[in-house]
Amino acid sequence: MWDNGLKYGLVTRVLHWSIATLLAYQLGGVIVGMVLGETPLTEAWGSEHKATGLLLFILAVVRAVWGLVNLRQRPAAHRELIGKAAVAGHLVLYGLLLVVPAIALVRQYGSGRPFEAFGLTIMQGGPDKIEWMTKLGSDFHGEMAWVLLVMIALHIVMTLVHQFVWKDGTLKRMAG
Ligand code: HEM
Ligand code: HEM
Repeated sequence: MWDNGLKYGLVTRVLHWSIATLLAYQLGGVIVGMVLGETPLTEAWGSEHKATGLLLFILAVVRAVWGLVNLRQRPAAHRELIGKAAVAGHLVLYGLLLVVPAIALVRQYGSGRPFEAFGLTIMQGGPDKIEWMTKLGSDFHGEMAWVLLVMIALHIVMTLVHQFVWKDGTLKRMAG
């Protein structure tokens, strides 16, 4: 269940890999939509964007709280600069994972339109549009999501370096 000094526990691993899978689905849907344009497949995929994004936000909050609870018993990073860079990179990933969907939800609220997902009313519609909220989302949601994609790519490259160049067993700590 819990993380320990040698590896991440079951909860952390399930959260890490389910978020990674959902993000691949979320970003994949946007990219396929850009490449193929409007097709029945991309429209169906795109229609799930808000609900998937909401689920990702909830999982990200749970993961951040779980990370804080386990903070003192996580596998340690290297003491040198490279270890500090890894911790900083993970913090940026956490930040983007929270901020990207959060600002989209703020925009959704500010649009005044109702928002339903998973058969539930998440937000009631309101009569007024709140300009700063819609502008925040339009200015930053997509842009920061692309930065998240770049950070994930770097994260995967570093995993490959750990696995095949340094051969230090880092992947095992998260793969179980
Ligand atoms: C971690 C979760 C999310 C990721 C990774 C993500 C990613 C993206 C990306 C890459 C785009 C395309 C940007 C572009 O065209 O350059 C986009 C657009 C959009 N997203 Fe999300 N999204 C997430 C969550 C959400 C949520 C929760 C909502 C609403 C409740 C939402 C609503 C939208 C809308 C309306 C657009 C089209 C307008 C725009 O480009 O900003 N997204 N998203
Ligand atoms: C194929 C995809 C991925 C692979 C192979 C992978 C691999 C790993 C590995 C091996 C670790 C452990 C690092 C260590 O012990 O220092 C880790 C940790 C981490 N990964 Fe990934 N990862 C992937 C996708 C993602 C994605 C999409 C995110 C998006 C946010 C992410 C965020 C994190 C974070 C924040 C940590 C630090 C531990 C934590 O707090 O959960 N990873 N990853």
